[in-house]
Amino acid sequence: MAKAKNAGTATPALQWLAANRAAAIGRLVEWLRIPSISTDPKHAKDCVAAAKWAGEQLTAAGLKVEICPTGTAGKPGHPIVLATAGGDADYAGPHVLFYGHYDVQPCDPLELWESPPFEPVIRPARKGEKGGERVVARGAVDDKGQVLMFIEALHAALATTGKPAGGVKLTVMLEGEEESGSANLEPFVKSRQKQLKACDVCVISDTGMLDRGLPAITYGVRGLAYTEVRLHSASRDLHSGQWGGRCPNPITELAKVLAQLHDKDRKVTIPGFYKDVLALSKTERANWAKLKFSAKAALKEIGLPPAADIGEKGYTATEREWARPTAEINGIWGGYTGVGAKTVIPAYATAKVSFRLVANQDETRIPKMFFEWCKKHTPPGCRWEFTNLHGGPGVTCDVDSPYLQTATAAIKDATGKAAALIKTGGSIPVAGMLKTRLGIDTIFMGFGLDDDRVHSPNEKFELECFDMGARSHACYLTRLAAMRR
Ligand code: BES
Ligand code: MN
Ligand code: MN
Repeated sequence: MAKAKNAGTATPALQWLAANRAAAIGRLVEWLRIPSISTDPKHAKDCVAAAKWAGEQLTAAGLKVEICPTGTAGKPGHPIVLATAGGDADYAGPHVLFYGHYDVQPCDPLELWESPPFEPVIRPARKGEKGGERVVARGAVDDKGQVLMFIEALHAALATTGKPAGGVKLTVMLEGEEESGSANLEPFVKSRQKQLKACDVCVISDTGMLDRGLPAITYGVRGLAYTEVRLHSASRDLHSGQWGGRCPNPITELAKVLAQLHDKDRKVTIPGFYKDVLALSKTERANWAKLKFSAKAALKEIGLPPAADIGEKGYTATEREWARPTAEINGIWGGYTGVGAKTVIPAYATAKVSFRLVANQDETRIPKMFFEWCKKHTPPGCRWEFTNLHGGPGVTCDVDSPYLQTATAAIKDATGKAAALIKTGGSIPVAGMLKTRLGIDTIFMGFGLDDDRVHSPNEKFELECFDMGARSHACYLTRLAAMRR
């Protein structure tokens, strides 16, 4: 990779960002008003609108934009925005692929929102709240706010250099199904394999910082395997007076089985589950221990006492989140859940069970192992129905990679601070796809905070974080643009 000649001279772009801050926030509010909930078919049109909105911004930033439909006629998906900047003839830096998602999570429970989720509110911190001014809306930090930081950096680049992306060779890919399993992304990546393979590195802003004012680069995300299991008992719902005590209650039996997923040390009991997990290195453990992070404080923030610091025995909270796999029950239901009482033994009970994966764990094998394990624990007289919903592998990027170092340098230019090297327990399916299919590494340059209420009511993004991100991306583009033959 070519070295930057005049690294860090992003001043004009930074000045542009400062001068256009109010307009940028206005743009963010506009985008956040579009309720692009990907999992809900009722919002399909909104997803198209959110994609188009982003496409217009990228066009305004001088990129060549395509809004690509996905799915099939019978099962349409949400469009993928693909935009390119060709780069100057003597550009010698990497061809960067920027990925983000314009879709958002559903908003329920609605009654817990302080303001309607798609009517963004800009407000200062209230008494007892940390941080400063913020925008409160669904998608504020995950991921529209973070994608817009990059788009603003592109606006700044065009305005200050007269060239799209400042002369950097760039591809932007914005997906609309990240929050619902990215079902149409894999076929899309496959169909554009040739074009995408030309990219050298992927950059994603969809993760968090170490803390307020402490920027970070995330060098790994966990993988995910998401399943649904249904335990069937009788052929119909039964009167619990007539049948209680005479035949299996599938809710009780399902709960008993799933309660055995963890042993007394909170290790997952599925045989072979840990087989492909790499042990944590001494260096990594030592580095993570040095990070300014308090498990106690983090628990306090979510209303829990220190005693709640539980998980797999032998690992710290950070290690458990970043480097250990987990099994979680995400939902469990059956029988009567309405108002009042109904004396029923249901015909079946269902649970959503997902696994966060690390290292070389195979997201296609884990559900099979889990289903086998369920079968071995089949309660008398019952039968299972299994569904493998979606999944993707975890990825880790080499911390010595020159691409990562350029990003670190850009963050230093923009914030004056050294970015901490962290991982996250969350998953971003595209990263695994790019790695396995195209051999492309991903650098996660995110500016969220742990208390941003991602996926929760009152999601927010603090404007200081938004500024840091936009500045960092502007400096990143400037550093890249300086790489010349
Ligand atoms: N941006 C998140 C991932 C994330 C969350 C990173 C918190 C860092 C901190 C992403 O949009 C997300 O929610 N991913 C899902 C993936 C799933 C729906 C396939 C996840 O992790 O559950
Ligand atoms: Mn996200
Ligand atoms: Mn998300």
